[in-house]
Amino acid sequence: MKIPRTDELALLSRSDFPADFRWGCSTSSYQIEGGVQEDGRGESIWDRFCATPGRIRDGSSGAVACDHYHRWPQDLDLARSLGTNAYRFSIAWPRVFANGRGRIANPKGLDFYSRLVDGLLERGLEPWPTLYHWDLPQALQDEGGWAQRATVDAFLDYTDAVTRHLGDRVKHWITHNEPWCTAFHGNLEGVHAPGIRDLKTALQVCHNVLLSHGLAIPVIRRNSAGAQIGAALSLHPLKAASDSAQDVAATRRHDGLRNRWFLDPLHGRGYPVDTWQLLGDKVPEVQDGDLAAMATPTDFLGVNYYFPEIVADAPGQGVLSTRVMEPQNVERTAFGWEVSPEGLVSLLDRVNHDYQPARIFLTENGSTYEDVVAADGSIDDPQRQRYLQQHLLALREALAMGVPVKGYFAWSLLDNFEWAEGYIRRFGLTHVDFETQQRRLKSSGKWYGAFLKGQL
Ligand code: FCB
Repeated sequence: MKIPRTDELALLSRSDFPADFRWGCSTSSYQIEGGVQEDGRGESIWDRFCATPGRIRDGSSGAVACDHYHRWPQDLDLARSLGTNAYRFSIAWPRVFANGRGRIANPKGLDFYSRLVDGLLERGLEPWPTLYHWDLPQALQDEGGWAQRATVDAFLDYTDAVTRHLGDRVKHWITHNEPWCTAFHGNLEGVHAPGIRDLKTALQVCHNVLLSHGLAIPVIRRNSAGAQIGAALSLHPLKAASDSAQDVAATRRHDGLRNRWFLDPLHGRGYPVDTWQLLGDKVPEVQDGDLAAMATPTDFLGVNYYFPEIVADAPGQGVLSTRVMEPQNVERTAFGWEVSPEGLVSLLDRVNHDYQPARIFLTENGSTYEDVVAADGSIDDPQRQRYLQQHLLALREALAMGVPVKGYFAWSLLDNFEWAEGYIRRFGLTHVDFETQQRRLKSSGKWYGAFLKGQL
């Protein structure tokens, strides 16, 4: 993809996309809700992790976050005011089962999401809940968390309770958000909850998460007639650091764990053999029937796209002997992530070519910058606006190439608790003043609204 000129960006129009395209924003429970002690919610692994000194860069937590638990009507009004027709959020498992499992689900927890779903429908917003966006009940972690198969059973009971309660009104379900992050940020790098650093554990977590995804599908179908179901994967287009055979081979190895480890089993191919062999005795325990369950057919693939990676051969470095390089001379967000709309085109083209999913939804895409609130309260964020425009142009290009993209969810509706970065990284189309909880649409959010309402 060539770099678009500014006038091309200005020509972008909602009418370039199919009439039934889903347009939304994404959020997640722990990042926006707050209200962590309310209505019988139990402790999550993120509450525990945040309470451990040194884990979160600014020492903060999601205890209050955007106070969305109390301010959700206003937030849904905001989402509607943008002209979106769908809204992706997640359900906090510890609100439904405070200790992760039990005979009776917490009615107050379920009711919160029931009100939220009704509120969405009243506003003409299609609800897109994610069942697991990282806030595992701490009680389950105390028993070994996702590394234990018992957590898969607990997830199925939780899924059953939620989909029974909401399945009449919710017709789009995302099982898991970014299993890579659950497994590797949380259990190999230790930078996310539960803060474990062990490859064997991470790979077992990964396996159990993918298994729980597959096993949840018939449960959801039983309780939510006609529902469309998928998982949201974090995927990365990869570039070799050089044309050398070593770097090209290293890129393939990296791809094995970064992308194929998820895409292959979900599409019925089992784990990639090349990667499996490299992992040696760290591979997960796989029981009879697991691979078939993981490949249970879905209705769509959710893709979360942020940035590409450049990979070099690095003998002896990690189990894959690879190194992810810092990109040089490229535009980056405040996180250091490369801005690469062309990466989105190549990623979608690759996924479509290699796996032929029936439908793809961009379930997350967005950027963080050092926003400045002007004296008059306005927030001018031309870089975030440009990022959004460039990625929509990339989507338009992917559609023209025949990729079945059916929707786009911007990350995020609101500035929020950005995990290990605390409140330092703002991804919102809306600025949140965390002292006063005041919301103010940034210029990027105003642009998204004008684009969606055909006012450009
Ligand atoms: C993704 C997460 C989401 C948010 C964005 C910036 O990996 O799914 O919760 O933190 O990154």
